[in-house]
Formats: sequence, C-alpha cells, structure tokens
Amino acid sequence: MSNRVSKVVLVGTGAVGSSYAFALLNQGIAGELVMIDVNKEKTEGDAMDLNHGLPFAPAKMIIRHGDYSDCYNADIVVLTAGAAQKPGETRLDLVEKNTRITKSIVEEVMASGFNGIFIVASNPVDILTYATWKFSGLPKERVIGSGTILDTARLRYMLGDYFNVDTRNVHAYIIGEHGDTELPVWSHAGIGVIPIFDWMRKDPKYKVEDLNDIFVQARDAAYRIIEKKGATYYGIAMGLVRLTKAILQDEHSILTVSTYLDGEYDHKDVFIGIPAIVTRNGISGVIKMELTATEKDRLNHSIRVLKETMNSVNLS
Ligand SMILES: NC(=O)c1ccc[n+]([C@@H]2O[C@H](COP(=O)([O-])OP(=O)(O)OC[C@H]3O[C@@H](n4cnc5c(N)ncnc54)[C@H](O)[C@@H]3O)[C@@H](O)[C@H]2O)c1
Repeated sequence: MSNRVSKVVLVGTGAVGSSYAFALLNQGIAGELVMIDVNKEKTEGDAMDLNHGLPFAPAKMIIRHGDYSDCYNADIVVLTAGAAQKPGETRLDLVEKNTRITKSIVEEVMASGFNGIFIVASNPVDILTYATWKFSGLPKERVIGSGTILDTARLRYMLGDYFNVDTRNVHAYIIGEHGDTELPVWSHAGIGVIPIFDWMRKDPKYKVEDLNDIFVQARDAAYRIIEKKGATYYGIAMGLVRLTKAILQDEHSILTVSTYLDGEYDHKDVFIGIPAIVTRNGISGVIKMELTATEKDRLNHSIRVLKETMNSVNLS
C-alpha cells in the first residue's frame, strides 16, 4: 500500500453528482475528488463552492474540476452523467440516450489508462452497468452499479417507521431491476435478529398486507419525488458515498448493488440488484439466498424484462 491519497473521479455533476460530491466531502471519505461534466463551468463552480466548505469538513480533501486524463490513476470513477427521468418517464425509457452517453464517457475514461473500479448510477442503472462493463473491458468484479441500494434504503426507512425501530436495525432487501419489476425479499427480512413475520406476531396491529403497501411506496418513491421536486438526489448520493466507503476502506460490506450474475439464482450474463460483498477489489461474492417460489418467479420476471430491453440497444 502506498500513502497516495484515494482518488475519486466523478463524471456528471448534475443533481445526483453534486449531491454525491457534497456528501463525500462531509463524510471525509476520499483524499481527492476530480469532477468532469460537459458543462465545464458547472464543475468549476462546484469545485469553488465545495472548497469553501473545507474549513468545516472532517478531513482534508483536494477538490477540483478536471478532464478524462485525470482518470489514469483514479481508484474509482463514478458515473452520474446523462439524462434523468422526466415526470411519467420510466427508467427504461432512458436507455438509448444514456447508453450512447455512457459509451462515449467510458471510452474516454479507459483511454486515460484507468484501471480502477467503476461505480455506475445513471439510469437505467442495471443496463448501463452492463454497458460500462462491456465498453470498458474491465473484470466484472470492478464494475458496480448502484442497483437497488436506494430502494433497499427506502424500504428499511419505511419499515423502521412502521415498526418504530431504528432503520439501521431493519434488515430487508429489495432485489432485481432498479425499477418497476423489483421485488422485496420478505422471506429473509428481519428486525434485529428476529424474522419479520415473528416480529409482526407480537402485535395484532401489524398486518401482512401492510408490508406490500410499504414495498409499493418504496418502489414508486422516485415517481412521487419527481412529481414534487423534479428529481431525486440526496438519498442516492448518500448511497453512492456508502458504496465508495465500502470500496476504499475494504469493508467487505453487504450492499444490494447491481452486480454480474454468473449462474447465481440460475441466471447468467446480466447485471442486477442483489446483495453482494463489496471490497477494495470490487465485488468478492454474491449472497445466495434461498428464495420462495414467488420471489424466484418475480426475480425471473425482472431479469426477463431487463434482458428484453437490453436486447433493444447496441452494446458493442
Ligand atoms: N441509481 C439511482 O438510484 C438513481 C437515482 C437518481 C437518479 N439517477 C440517475 O442519475 C442520472 C443523473 O441524474 P441527475 O438528476 O443528476 O441529472 P442531471 O440532469 O441533473 O445531471 C446530469 C449531468 O450529466 C451531465 N452530462 C450529460 N451528458 C454528459 C456527457 N456526455 N459527459 C459528461 N457529463 C454529461 C449534464 O451536463 C448534467 O450535469 C440520471 O440518469 C438519473 O436517472 C439514478
């Protein structure tokens, strides 16, 4: 290990990207942050603004705007560039536009000599993670999508509220496509170490049908937020910082990221949101849960929908 500071390059400093930069600075996770965007003025302004917060930050950090040549020695390149969902638009509607943008960015990043880890957040995130893997030629372990990290966080927050328990003690995953076909894994959900259905038996006010309502609210939260304020960015930004920290600090944390399935859950050749172990070298393993027949069917459906959309775009 050298004492070189950890370096993150962020491509796309719109709502999600700049929120990520702000959260990264506030948590003191990286030694250096370089920002790139087609809107250069914006990255210059963001660098100035963020630097002025350094006297209040928990750790020293170099923050600047830059270009693709800065990626050659980056530990992580984070992709938050591209068009965002408009009201009523699904994440899959964005696929063609954002695949083209991702291709041009990944080619420039790789031309710098980059040999680190990609984190992808742009939507549709599972397809763009696959595209980044294809376009970059990097090992699959080193291309990680934000997957259902945010959906899972939304579910845990809402369950914490429902059960009046600290959200950090709620253990429940949303898996599958980050989008309309995702699913909750109730068969492996728990509060502390108590399985969720056992916890619910403690009080008749808890109803199994409420769980489905909570899941639907978590799944559709982005639509509600976009209707109200045009975009979602704080939650995902914090999720991306959590992922960045798990990588840079070699945490071996389990997070529901978009990762490559190579036979796990009987699927191959797809990036999809699944709990996986995140380390300094990327993904070291996928968590294999014994799903119920219904959960398995829903995961199969999610993957089928994703693959159909993927087949409609040029990923070469
Ligand atoms: N994964 C998640 O959970 C999640 C959550 C929220 C948003 N998103 C996605 O993140 C992406 C960004 O959302 P946003 O709200 O920040 O959008 P935004 O429009 O505010 O920002 C996008 C940025 O990308 C830049 N950009 C566009 N083309 C570029 C290129 N070729 N090279 C460099 N920069 C380029 C734009 O100039 C802009 O600054 C969207 O695809 C959105 O759907 C993902």
